[in-house]
Amino acid sequence: MTADSLQQAADSLAGAPVVLAVTGAGISAESGIPTFRGSGGLWNGFRAEELATPQAFAANPDRVWSWYRWRQQLCAQSNPNEAHHALVTLEQRCPDFLLATQNVDGLHPRAGSRALIELHGCIDKSRCTKCGQVRELALEGDPIPHCPECGAMARPHILWFGETYWPGIIEDAVAHAQRAHVAIVIGTSGRVWPPIAIALKAQECGATLIEINPERSELTEHADIWLQGSASEWLPALVSASS
Ligand code: OAD
Repeated sequence: MTADSLQQAADSLAGAPVVLAVTGAGISAESGIPTFRGSGGLWNGFRAEELATPQAFAANPDRVWSWYRWRQQLCAQSNPNEAHHALVTLEQRCPDFLLATQNVDGLHPRAGSRALIELHGCIDKSRCTKCGQVRELALEGDPIPHCPECGAMARPHILWFGETYWPGIIEDAVAHAQRAHVAIVIGTSGRVWPPIAIALKAQECGATLIEINPERSELTEHADIWLQGSASEWLPALVSASS
């Protein structure tokens, strides 16, 4: 990352009336939450097909719930970092801002992000497998929660592999992307395509596409500006340089 690329990114962001941010697990890495891929990533130590599919839940709900309960504890013990806070600062000064996150860790809302779409759900919520009611999931509650209305077993309110996005969720993000002047993509490998397609839609409609990531991702070749480095280092620097 050079000072030139930071300045170029800051110039695009300064005064941009419509801004889109897309985040992935990398933004929470410095809060102590493991990413999914790469060394130390969750999908190296665990098999996604045994934990994050509807079939896995049907076959063994105890195993799936115990893994999500473990992650819920980990997220509860972690705190938002400077990068999460920088996005809140950006939201507060930008007239039309949207953050579309792939993360389920809840650190964006805890930092204070309000213009937020949690594309893949939230670790602090459960959903009834029968009536579909989504509820807050207390940390100390029943390890396998049941719906207080209909008594059916609840599942984590997480988008699993093989499932389709909830109705309207991608469309809302794309509608924002189409008017965005700047799109910033932070800490994602880009291996899950729909969130990346949202950012590319913004670029196709005229936005400058900025990526923050220490490593090359599926998006890097498309980015107008790649700020190569960690989110907690470069996001606060970008927000500050563009104020
Ligand atoms: P990945 O684990 O695939 O990618 C994490 C990215 O973060 C990598 O590109 C890293 O280089 C980058 N990274 C690591 N440390 C960073 C730091 N300090 N600052 C900035 N970037 C850093 O995670 P995602 O792309 O979020 O889906 O994964 C996408 C989806 O795949 C997840 O939402 C999850 C997973 O399966 C579901 O659970 C539905």
